[in-house]
Amino acid sequence: MRLPEARGNASGSVFDLLRGNTTDAAEALNGVTDAVERTTDILYDDDLQIALFVLYELHYRGVNGVDERWEWDPELLRIRSVIETAFEARLREVVPVPERPEATRRAVADALFALTSADSGPSLSRYVAKSATDEQLHEFLIQRSIYQLKEADPHSFAIPRLEGVAKAALVEIQSDEYGGGRPERVHQTIYRGAMEGLGLDSEYGAYADQVSAITFASTNLMSLFGLHRRLRGAIVGHLAAYEMTSSIPCRMVSTGFRRAGYGEKVTGYFDEHVEADAVHEQIAGRDLAGGLVEAEPHLLDDVMFGASACLTVDGWMAGSILESWERGESSLRQRAKAVAA
Ligand SMILES: [Fe+2]
Ligand SMILES: [Fe+2]
Repeated sequence: MRLPEARGNASGSVFDLLRGNTTDAAEALNGVTDAVERTTDILYDDDLQIALFVLYELHYRGVNGVDERWEWDPELLRIRSVIETAFEARLREVVPVPERPEATRRAVADALFALTSADSGPSLSRYVAKSATDEQLHEFLIQRSIYQLKEADPHSFAIPRLEGVAKAALVEIQSDEYGGGRPERVHQTIYRGAMEGLGLDSEYGAYADQVSAITFASTNLMSLFGLHRRLRGAIVGHLAAYEMTSSIPCRMVSTGFRRAGYGEKVTGYFDEHVEADAVHEQIAGRDLAGGLVEAEPHLLDDVMFGASACLTVDGWMAGSILESWERGESSLRQRAKAVAA
């Protein structure tokens, strides 16, 4: 991934450090600490969310021109933890705490299905199905590309942290996400194909300069949950909620692209998820989330928290895109540049 542009002092000082423009980690720590103290809502803070997104990227594909050794640099991890601490605290504050089920496989799955079916967040997918313009369809794929080009990767960090039933369930789901041995069926790759079908740049992170904080927050929270073993309950709950709210919206999105005249190359990604996620949600609810809670009952609250965090933050991301569209505006930072790419 290309290093995106900084959006303030925090990201500016972190990116300077990564680029080797300075060796003064203390300055970056100060810049970040300052920004964390001043922010009114870290979920909507462009400067801090883009900084965190890039810091996490060191654990995925890396960033062009950035020394790979930064990944485990203690001073950089300290800087990251300042952002993460504030990010997690804010999530714990704003994410509604769902009712707590019994710690059995069945009860956990039922509670997750109840939570996700009661979710009344703004329906971006319904809008896409019925009324999105061609430009908005482009924007939809751009917004989603921040996560979808690394789809499934944050949850894979949980694999070595699980055992038995939960581990087998997670690997079963991830195996589909990664194409079951067929590289062309890797969901990330199918998504790239959809972007190319719309003439968009499918390079990893190509649109990082175009999306706003809440889009990064939706992906950053998966990285936060996935990269901390302590939060394994939350990443599992997140995946369960994600799978449970995927199949029906994907059908609507596919309808929207078909309505605009796009074919299989574009709709294939969404069609795949109509079928796949109807299966995944069953495995994720009972065996993954329920299996984990049966094995480690003290993780129950975090499983429910992770599920609720997924619904809440993805709902806000969808809401912010819809609000822009309803105002007749682009949801991107630089409309023309992004859509012409
Ligand atoms: Fe997928
Ligand atoms: Fe899935």
